[in-house]
Amino acid sequence: MSNPVVSYEIIDSIGVITVNNPPVNALSQALRDGIQKAVTAAQSDASEALVLICAGRTFIAGADITEFGKPPMSPSLSDILVSIENSKKLIVAAIHGTALGGGFETSLACHYRCAIASAKVGLPEVKLGILPGAGGTQRVPRIAGVKAALELITTGNPISAAEAADMNLIDEIIEGDLKSGAIQYAKDLVDSGAPLKRIRDITINASSIEPGFFESYRKKLAQRARGQIAPDRIVSCVEAAVKLPMDQGLKLERDLFMECVQSSQSRAMRHVFFAEREAAKIKDLPANMPVRDIKRVAIIGGGTMGGGIAMCFANVGIPVTMLEINDEALERGLGIIRKNYSITVQKGKMTEAEMAERLTFINGTTQYKDLADVDLVIEAVFENPDIKAEVFGKLDAVCKPGAILASNTSYQNIDNIAAATKRPQDVLGMHFFSPANVMKLLEVVRGAKTSDDVLATAMQIGKKIGKVCALSRVCYGFIGNRMLGGYGRQAHMLLLDGASPAQIDAAAEEFGMAMGPIAMSDLAGLDVGYKARQAREAAGEKMDPRAHCIASALVEMGRLGQKSGAGYYKYDPQTRARVPDPEVDALIKAHAEKLGIKRREIGAEEIVARLMYPLINEGALILEEGIAQRPGDIDIVYVYGYAFPSAKGGPMFYADEVGLKNVYDAICKFRDQHGADIWKPAPLLERLAKEGSTFAAWGAAQE
Ligand code: 3HC
Ligand code: NAI
Repeated sequence: MSNPVVSYEIIDSIGVITVNNPPVNALSQALRDGIQKAVTAAQSDASEALVLICAGRTFIAGADITEFGKPPMSPSLSDILVSIENSKKLIVAAIHGTALGGGFETSLACHYRCAIASAKVGLPEVKLGILPGAGGTQRVPRIAGVKAALELITTGNPISAAEAADMNLIDEIIEGDLKSGAIQYAKDLVDSGAPLKRIRDITINASSIEPGFFESYRKKLAQRARGQIAPDRIVSCVEAAVKLPMDQGLKLERDLFMECVQSSQSRAMRHVFFAEREAAKIKDLPANMPVRDIKRVAIIGGGTMGGGIAMCFANVGIPVTMLEINDEALERGLGIIRKNYSITVQKGKMTEAEMAERLTFINGTTQYKDLADVDLVIEAVFENPDIKAEVFGKLDAVCKPGAILASNTSYQNIDNIAAATKRPQDVLGMHFFSPANVMKLLEVVRGAKTSDDVLATAMQIGKKIGKVCALSRVCYGFIGNRMLGGYGRQAHMLLLDGASPAQIDAAAEEFGMAMGPIAMSDLAGLDVGYKARQAREAAGEKMDPRAHCIASALVEMGRLGQKSGAGYYKYDPQTRARVPDPEVDALIKAHAEKLGIKRREIGAEEIVARLMYPLINEGALILEEGIAQRPGDIDIVYVYGYAFPSAKGGPMFYADEVGLKNVYDAICKFRDQHGADIWKPAPLLERLAKEGSTFAAWGAAQE
């Protein structure tokens, strides 16, 4: 047969169908067609059984996401799976790399599955706002059980071959070469007269599911789904797998898949998928830019951020040396790392042995001379320019030539930091988010003199430690924190204008933010902003009281937020639940009166607009100034650094969905109400709104 991406040969009486569609063997039309034809032809050739295997780095990693939303092209994946399942010759899937989504579903239609130990399988569709649409919701519960299936499909997280084998999803782990091992396995199955195992023929014992199980699962999911529809629809499909015959279950799955794939949520999440991969690319650098080898890392400062960053490297087996000012501070920093790992062990997410192994990668020092041999240093000392300059001067003196010197600063100018060294080409920002071992975002900050290979190395090491990277140029707060300024200011002004803390947080959380801005301030600590304002005022900056007067008053009352038991809210000492406080309501009223603000009822729609539009407006400025490379990069910063709902795609994608004219008109209205010093439409937003264009179209034109 001749097909560009699927080949067929008979080896040792076994028909081997090989898929080769780089980079990830996504199920394109040509691939589907090739498999279909190979399976059909094999029915009448000399083969005794078939093996489905992939060339390249992975088994089929899923449907081709670029085809979603386009007219369907036959054969459909479902058609192929019917042919595979109904084959009169036994078919074995041979898995390496990642069998994901439609790829894993293809393997589930085969009669047996074998895999090498390093392989992973999973159904990540929920992360794209959809559900497995090729039988995954029907076959996994039939073979692995309802609870395991729900866990696998609603989290979307892949599992190892060993875990999959424990769940009956994999029949055989192959040692050594996969192709010869799979052929041998197929022959053994034929020789032993193994049946054509069709998962569709399994019936789930409905009485094994306790009454009300699905309803309570739905409720539990709704709490963490932040308004997403796919998790709920997945439960419906799995419920159908228990209650309905296979074909009816498949029909429901198909209908709900179509509902999800056409939703704005899935459009947004697919945008995030591709934007994440784009953001890792630096526009003016070739993809194959040589990078520096990073074998040893040093972290300066073992506080909140330093400890978390050290864990990121230890987690992937890169040795880290943490430097602190004295033994006591060092012991405290190392102690926090140990405690963090212990919590993970207590939660059952890591074994004692794994924890012990990770800790062997972290050691401490108080001596700069111990850093002479490291390849990368990340500074995370106090946010003070003089201390940072002193640290970089010392690093310049001891670190070997070619070592990369990065700062985790939130706001300081990277070029000034670089100027404290004689090697500004080796200096850049690597801005992690708190908690650094958990949050996925890494802003890579390009100084005026940062060399290209240093940037490429930072992007690569970021990916290696599991971060999603986005590039920013130097400005106050870089992409993320710079945009946050207007968001926080509006939250505060909304209080003065009449909304309560609980109303503001509820509106933001209903929108999909993980936590509303007021609760977030309480969590971060109101004293942090207070101190920053004091420093700015001391430097002569005049601040608008509308942006901070209540926050400042709370700090002066000793209400620093969660850490002091009260801030905007009071906190239940046991559950940490937020409790609205009439004392704060009175404080807000008093300040509004003092400022001559007439308070009024404010609806959720206005709250959301006033919180989100400053992000969009600042984002437009950031694009125009070239601080961010693309609108999608800004979305990535917000989704992964600030828990912006991925189902809304990030602030710039959301702006396009709302319509730039609508955003622009609303900003003009707010400007007329609150003043041009607070609301000033960005020129790029104004231009695109007037042209009827979008950020996406503008971004594409810049590529
Ligand atoms: N469709 C189209 N393109 C895809 C793709 C897919 N399913 N998966 C990856 N790609 C592209 C990426 O966009 C990237 O393109 P680029 O080089 O132009 O930027 C390239 O393939 C390589 O991808 P990564 O950079 O992500 O490569 P990694 O090696 O880091 O990761 C991976 C490989 C784990 C397979 C990762 O790409 C991945 O998670 N892919 C998506 C898997 C997925 O979501 N599958 C389910 C799809 S939905 C489905 O199957 C529906 C079904 O139920 C009907
Ligand atoms: P922190 O106060 O928790 O820790 C700072 C640590 O640096 C302390 O342990 C201190 O002993 C140590 N240190 C101070 N001077 C030092 C020196 N000269 N040499 C070695 N160690 C020294 O501070 P945090 O929160 O970890 O912040 C560190 C940096 O990370 C700051 O630049 C901050 O802006 C930035 N950052 C902070 C985030 C956060 O949420 N806390 C988020 C992202 C960046």
